[in-house]
Amino acid sequence: MLPCTQKIKDLDWKPKGIILSGSPYSVYDKGAPRVDPDVFEAGVPVLGICYGLQEIAWNHGGKVDPHDRREYGKATIDVVKTGNAHMDALFAGEEARVDVWMSHGDQLSVCPPDFEVVAKTSTAPFAALAHKTKPIYGIQFHAEVTHSPRGKELFENFVERICDCRRDWNMETFIDKEIARIRELVGPKGRVIGAISGGVDSSVAAKLMHEAIGDRFHAVMVDNGVLRAREAAQVYEMLSQHLGVNVTIVDASELFLGRLEGVDDPEKKRKIIGNTFINVFEEEAAKLEAEAEREEEEAKKAGRQHETKGKYEYLLQGTLYPDVIESISFKGPSATIKTHHNVGGLLDDMKLKLIEPLRELFKDEVRQLGKVMGIPAHLVGRHPFPGPGLAIRILGPVTRSQVEILQQADTIYIEEIRKAGIYDEISQAFAVLLPVRAVGVQGDKRTYDQVIALRAAQTTDFMTATWYPFSYDFLSKVSNRITNEVQGVNRVVYDVSSKPPSTIEWL
Ligand code: XMP
Repeated sequence: MLPCTQKIKDLDWKPKGIILSGSPYSVYDKGAPRVDPDVFEAGVPVLGICYGLQEIAWNHGGKVDPHDRREYGKATIDVVKTGNAHMDALFAGEEARVDVWMSHGDQLSVCPPDFEVVAKTSTAPFAALAHKTKPIYGIQFHAEVTHSPRGKELFENFVERICDCRRDWNMETFIDKEIARIRELVGPKGRVIGAISGGVDSSVAAKLMHEAIGDRFHAVMVDNGVLRAREAAQVYEMLSQHLGVNVTIVDASELFLGRLEGVDDPEKKRKIIGNTFINVFEEEAAKLEAEAEREEEEAKKAGRQHETKGKYEYLLQGTLYPDVIESISFKGPSATIKTHHNVGGLLDDMKLKLIEPLRELFKDEVRQLGKVMGIPAHLVGRHPFPGPGLAIRILGPVTRSQVEILQQADTIYIEEIRKAGIYDEISQAFAVLLPVRAVGVQGDKRTYDQVIALRAAQTTDFMTATWYPFSYDFLSKVSNRITNEVQGVNRVVYDVSSKPPSTIEWL
């Protein structure tokens, strides 16, 4: 992935194709991303998505109309066959009507002269275009999101048919290559410390690291005071018993909660948590090294055989590609959605170097990787839990008592989801503690307490999501239990928003 400011002439390799991504900008905005016009002269296929299509049209004499209202959500396109194999290649093998996901403001109003329409909708006459002679294509919809169910086929057409790329990447080759890369990077004695959150990403990363370097990998789970109830104990059991990984649980809850005191802003919370994590890991790595040195000293004194162990030079993180995409803003006009604590929240002067074997994978690929490596299904299928934990599910400042309220509500909610047998149908479910107070009546007394929002998302890539359609009975049971059992909460609401326009977490 390269920034839009990349100049084609500065590349020392030749791409096989170029995809121009979407953007929240309007082509009319001051400072809007402008692609290097040489992209269209590079002699390689180009596919523009949403803003990418508008950028293609803009560069080829088309016209883009600004719209005040954005179009979000499902749409159906009618594929237009031109009878020309080159122009029809993008939708080759497709039905006449295809469901897609739209998310755009501006829209094309005049087709550029050398292009033809290859798909349209009732509201967008130029839903997809193809250049009459060159391999340049553009789509108004977002084929890259799960909610465009045939999006994968469209990319296969572009990458395999149009760009003529070979498919030689699969999970087995990925594992072999990653293990070899890790061994080479770490060397025969080097050691790695691993940041484990209990989520599927860091657990799969830990398993991969254990396969690569065995006991020279040590996992550390930091209890940052904003974990779910019993999380640390469950993670310990999962890693040590099921995955055979060395693991230490460090209770740093005082430190984290102290630094989070009074902090309201979500990005600040992420930064504080990211930075504090690194401080704790560095301290823990130093302790583990000192311990190893002591053992060596003792062995030497007693005249026993000993193995010299290397230093902890690397820190393993389960960073995924969506974390990278959503966190990084290139020097230029791309938009940062959230600074995921493990990408943008790191210290500049960090001593440990990062190893992120999953950095180019999506969540569904990580689950597949976990299964291929033999991690039990109930562990691979755990709902993800963000590194900054409950701190980004408590709106407003984080305190121990707020954490406890949320832990209790979340435990009840997840317990009921499991009892109803729908845990695996939902991609991620959690409770959120809202900073508002509402009036209630409990035991004939007026209460003025807090509100819990329930969230349940269905998604595969976590880039887009829909909300889960619980039954009324289920919602009423969870609401009754939370308001009866959790002191300080007198109201429960259910969040019925998709991503986009919302995100999965509230912060
Ligand atoms: P959003 O809220 O961005 O969430 O739609 C997408 C997925 O990312 C998780 N998430 C995070 N994970 N550090 C993490 O490790 C973070 O700062 C963070 N923010 C969101 C979220 O739980 C969901 O699975």
